[in-house]
Amino acid sequence: MALWGGRFTQAADQRFKELNDSLRFDYRLAEQDIVGSVAWSKALVTVNVLTADEQIQLEEALTVLLEEVRANPRAILASDAEDIHSWVEGKLIDKVGNLGKKLHTGRSRNDQVATDIKLWCKAQVVELGEALHHLQQALVATAEANQDAVMPGYTHLQRAQPVTFAHWCMAYVEMLARDESRLKDTLTRLDVSPLGCGALAGTAYPMDREQLAGWLGFASATRNSLDSVSDRDHVLELLSNAAISMVHLSRFAEDLIFFNTGEAAFIDLSDRVTSGSSLMPQKKNPDALELIRGKCGRVQGALTGMMMTMKGLPLAYNKDMQEDKEGLFDALDTWMDCLNMASLVLDGIQVKRPRAKEAAQQGYANSTELADYLVAKGVPFREAHHIVGEAVVEAINQGKALEELPLADLQKFSSVIGDDVYAILELQSCLDKRAAKGGVSPQQVAQAIADAKARLA
Ligand code: ARG
Repeated sequence: MALWGGRFTQAADQRFKELNDSLRFDYRLAEQDIVGSVAWSKALVTVNVLTADEQIQLEEALTVLLEEVRANPRAILASDAEDIHSWVEGKLIDKVGNLGKKLHTGRSRNDQVATDIKLWCKAQVVELGEALHHLQQALVATAEANQDAVMPGYTHLQRAQPVTFAHWCMAYVEMLARDESRLKDTLTRLDVSPLGCGALAGTAYPMDREQLAGWLGFASATRNSLDSVSDRDHVLELLSNAAISMVHLSRFAEDLIFFNTGEAAFIDLSDRVTSGSSLMPQKKNPDALELIRGKCGRVQGALTGMMMTMKGLPLAYNKDMQEDKEGLFDALDTWMDCLNMASLVLDGIQVKRPRAKEAAQQGYANSTELADYLVAKGVPFREAHHIVGEAVVEAINQGKALEELPLADLQKFSSVIGDDVYAILELQSCLDKRAAKGGVSPQQVAQAIADAKARLA
């Protein structure tokens, strides 16, 4: 039965009911709605709407309902209740009769739904934080195992300077660490209870809203009732956290898809996260990574959609805001799935060291080293840059690497070049020299790994 029949003489059109009802998605808020209702029943004792005995009866029935919901949340979907709030109230009345009809005193679905979503978001923040943490740990472990795996580093997708697979992994650790800290930051603004704000103007029952907030595990109660029922900033913030993090995961996926091409062939992916072709027997496609990259799009869509839903809304609650849930649920589920999938992909990754090193040796990725060598011999950097550019053209013409040019050929470009240049042009020297904080030198990467391990412990 609907919660609001009295004023109406005609039943709702079935087509309107289908558009209006939200149970098919907001059933996911059942736990939060029940927990919020228990707290509300306690508040109603403090304002003498319920006796202590009545409250105990309600709480017991709600606790049984919570167990039923936990055992089988999808059973809720069999009901034709309008939304999860109507469903919980209906079930309560089934269990305790008329007493159940007292629960909604002084409360509105507007403060109720705002509370439910915030409670749900708080639980998600914890779980997503753990998944972000776990993925960082997986990246650090992969880095640790691949400190000696040299590969080309790119700018403009052109080979630029040699790096290690470990250094690449640690770059994504940084991005995910920022994602995790953004989540923590979001929690500080999310952790404020709207319950007791009523439909929009506040509840008429003089309760202690701070105490009520505390019962629900919120840090405090909101300050303005109009804002409380119409604020969905926390949904927007979580969606933007998801959107940013999914961009990181998408770039991670794209890098690995490229490393896995036949042309690059720096890595092998596990059979557990790849699939074959129905026609081409030789194929092993990086589907898990492509899906991470692809699913990034729908998360950006959820954020943009919700921004547009909110942008013209007058205060206070409007039914438009019911549109917050499907995008939020989908985006956070997707984010979680992709974080877990990224960990699984890393778990089975093999770096093909000889091939990755060979690629790092090609593409004149040690040109900067030659310029720095000239600088050390007193040539101003801009001049050195020009000289090396000419040497690279010569090497390209001869089909050789810089270090394969005979000394006499190199000396045509600068007489300061001596025999000691060849050691400088070695890959290992290119890595070793980048020893300032954050650089790719083995000591710096080892330090970064040790620091991250300590942070993540
Ligand atoms: N299902 C609604 C939502 O998700 C609950 C609040 C409805 N409030 C109302 N006055 N119709 O936003």
